[in-house]
Amino acid sequence: MTVRVVLFVSVFSLVTTTGFGQDKVDFQTQIQPIFVEHCIKCHGEKQASGKMRLHTPASLKEKWDADKELLVAGEPEKSELYVRLTLPADDKKRMPRMADPLPKEKIDLIAAWIKQGAALPEVAAAPAGDEKPADAAAEEKPAEVPLPEVRRRRKKH
Ligand code: HEC
Repeated sequence: MTVRVVLFVSVFSLVTTTGFGQDKVDFQTQIQPIFVEHCIKCHGEKQASGKMRLHTPASLKEKWDADKELLVAGEPEKSELYVRLTLPADDKKRMPRMADPLPKEKIDLIAAWIKQGAALPEVAAAPAGDEKPADAAAEEKPAEVPLPEVRRRRKKH
């Protein structure tokens, strides 16, 4: 038992420290904090420069829906949000504006997240007012009424 745990922990740290096996980047814990630290001053609740707010996944999704080039899943080089971070230092379009470029490891993290599909947490899947796909609505119901014994999954048509 202990051996397994130790093995697991050491493999885990090998993966995280070397990047070997490319970890799945998590938006909430790894990407959102970068936006909060470097971007929301201009792209947040109070200000929406470029008509973009980055303080929540839902607000990012809203801009992304309106502007498909913002993030192209799998292709950081085609994603405006990534390209802006990598422009030459004297380019007016470089982000964050009027500040030093982000450290390389943060830019790389954003690139990895986009490469892996630019996944946002569920909460952002359906911004208020948007219609949910029929499937999503059907999935939610059993979760709210858990049946401890027999749990049937039937699709109603
Ligand atoms: C000091 C203010 C400021 C900060 C900080 C800032 N931005 Fe911006 N950003 C702007 C302004 C102003 C614009 C609109 C003008 C333009 O497009 O360059 C803009 C535009 C953008 C756009 C283009 C939006 C569009 O409509 O295509 C992206 C993408 C962007 N910013 C990303 C970021 C990211 C990511 C960060 C944090 C790493 C960041 N910005 C930090 C001021 C800022």
